Amino acid sequence: MQIAVTRGDSRVTPIDPAQFDDFDFHDGDRLAVLPAREAAKLPVTWGDRHVEISPGRAIRVPEQWKLFDFRTFRIPVHLITLTGAGPETLDLIGGAHLRNYENQMGLFPGMNFVDVGCGIGRDAFQLMDYLSPEGRYLGIDVTRDSIVWCQRHITPRDPRFSFHHFDAVNELYNPFGRRRTSDFRLPLPDASVDRIGLASVFTHLLEDEVLHYMREFRRVLKPDGRVHASFFLYSQAALQAARSAGTTAWAATFLHRLSKGVYANDPAYPRGAVAYDEETMRRLMQEAGLATDRPFVKGAWSGLFGDEAEEGQDAVILRRA
Ligand SMILES: C[S@@+](CC[C@H](N)C(=O)[O-])C[C@H]1O[C@@H](n2cnc3c(N)ncnc32)[C@H](O)[C@@H]1O
Repeated sequence: MQIAVTRGDSRVTPIDPAQFDDFDFHDGDRLAVLPAREAAKLPVTWGDRHVEISPGRAIRVPEQWKLFDFRTFRIPVHLITLTGAGPETLDLIGGAHLRNYENQMGLFPGMNFVDVGCGIGRDAFQLMDYLSPEGRYLGIDVTRDSIVWCQRHITPRDPRFSFHHFDAVNELYNPFGRRRTSDFRLPLPDASVDRIGLASVFTHLLEDEVLHYMREFRRVLKPDGRVHASFFLYSQAALQAARSAGTTAWAATFLHRLSKGVYANDPAYPRGAVAYDEETMRRLMQEAGLATDRPFVKGAWSGLFGDEAEEGQDAVILRRA
């Protein structure tokens, strides 16, 4: 298989998929996986075609390579899109995440921060100005292309920031993933982490995956550590409100029951959007040895909370029980 690159009116020599990470794509290059008949069999998510190069190494090939200039970085737009929003809101939403973390779990500049499901580093960009020289950030994600980009562009400029890939399967973010989320331990010693953020990540995880991460959080959190995890809180009232006042670009119906208290919006892509009812979220945190000191953060997604909404999704703030 090869990747054809068209720049302006001319075709650049086709590249081997193994060269993809190192190839100097230009803003505006158009990409096509060849031969087309083979390419048609490959999974496509968010318009990107997934090509497996070797076990544990798959790439996302967008139809067009576009770059967004942001704070001296040039970020591939197709990787920004995976956050669920576009380049124009990258700064705005990242800033809102930090404010929510600050208000709801507290942050401090010397903290050891872990960003699970960090994507293209939307929150890392914000933390660059916030962390002190002693502060540390670790980003974890199953989207290999985003992690490779962050490792190559963020870490060399700011070694306080490191990034780690988990090759766990997710039908939308990592369809060629060879292992399961529960196969991975956070690459951190016990009781070493001050703060953990998961911005719109439990919304893409199944019950066993949430429980596994919670158990890992219990292990790595310091005694006074905190976790901020946003999620969709399932209730009949929220779903009823979502029909008339919902704020998601997609219709939030959560009609498909995956397990007791866990619902998917789209059975074809269950991890596309997953919701948890209160009883299940509380049971999972208890099973993992975690607790919360405050009511769930009220999300705006369903419209249920009107002006009382505190952020886009609902969220839970966790500590060691
Ligand atoms: C909606 S995006 C949010 C990205 C980032 N938190 C942000 O706000 O910009 C969800 C992210 O979760 C990641 N993800 C999905 N399943 C995961 C898993 N099992 N472990 C870690 N990250 C995962 C996806 O690859 C994606 O980057």
